[in-house]
Amino acid sequence: MKKFLKRLAAGILAAALAAGLSGCSMATSGKRIIRISHAQAETHPEHLGLLAFKQYVEEQLGDKYEVQIFPNEILGSAQKAIELTQTGAIDFVVAGTANLETFADVYEIFSMPYLFDSEDVYRSVMEDTDYMQNIYQSTDDAGFRVVTWYNAGTRNFYAKTPIRTPDDLKGKKIRVQQSPASVAMVQSFGAAAAPMGFGEVYTAIQQGVIDGAENNELALTNNKHGEVAKYYSYNKHQMVPDMLVGNLKFLNSLSPKEYEVFKEAARRSTEVELAEWDKSIDAAKVKAKTEMGVEFIDVDVDAFKKMVLPLHEKMLNDNPKIRDLYQHIQEENQKLKGGQ
Ligand code: GCU
Repeated sequence: MKKFLKRLAAGILAAALAAGLSGCSMATSGKRIIRISHAQAETHPEHLGLLAFKQYVEEQLGDKYEVQIFPNEILGSAQKAIELTQTGAIDFVVAGTANLETFADVYEIFSMPYLFDSEDVYRSVMEDTDYMQNIYQSTDDAGFRVVTWYNAGTRNFYAKTPIRTPDDLKGKKIRVQQSPASVAMVQSFGAAAAPMGFGEVYTAIQQGVIDGAENNELALTNNKHGEVAKYYSYNKHQMVPDMLVGNLKFLNSLSPKEYEVFKEAARRSTEVELAEWDKSIDAAKVKAKTEMGVEFIDVDVDAFKKMVLPLHEKMLNDNPKIRDLYQHIQEENQKLKGGQ
């Protein structure tokens, strides 16, 4: 049913676009419709953040713009929605950096396992908007630009059978995001990597096409993966942020005053998302444990780390574009270590 609705919505949009409503974006009220696509449910912190974005834009510029948010991959998977944003069929999409790697090499850095020493380091790097500005502009040639980031937590393995040591990953088939670096990471653990879109993961686990996946805790509840995978292991291999990405032509078409409004709306959306994130992780853990029967397993993180650390050097050699940011993050790792 969900699939049918998705296809219907995508079909309606495609038909509207094919009809050449270049004012596809004009409502009957004469307002310019701003379309935002994301992959999460309406209870997810990102959706709540985007509601704050909508509210602010409409408060400030409501006579001209109406913001419409399309959750649940209704307009297609992240990769598809990025293409729609590239062409300007829609205006914004929330996509994980793994999905941006094919457009700008620098984003590969976030797929590097055990890059940040802690969530504090991760947040402080990501919140340094001056530093991140350069990175945000790296997809300009592809026709889109990042306008802000959202926390997508720490990624951990979960499966149908318990993963207590790295050995338990051997021979397992694990879904990863469509990113070469994530494929390499899972292979370093001796598992087989199955790259696929987020929306396909539930059925793939259920039907035994894969043994498990890796993600933050909300995948268990918001995306219901806890119904089909009952063991979640805190090996903490990645912190991969999500990005709010905007069509560049649209951003460039804004007057300086309007641009400031969208920038502020993006900032507010992140503020809301970050505040909601911690709360929703706590709630997801309780729900997964008590209602879905998921067992949370604490593992020896260093044992996992050891197996994939050689990837740092390999990635740095293969991709010079990530070196600066890597160095910057290492400095932040050191700084926060000193401060602790
Ligand atoms: C998280 C993240 C998404 C990403 C997904 C995935 O849910 O927020 O942006 O697409 O993981 O694993 O594909």
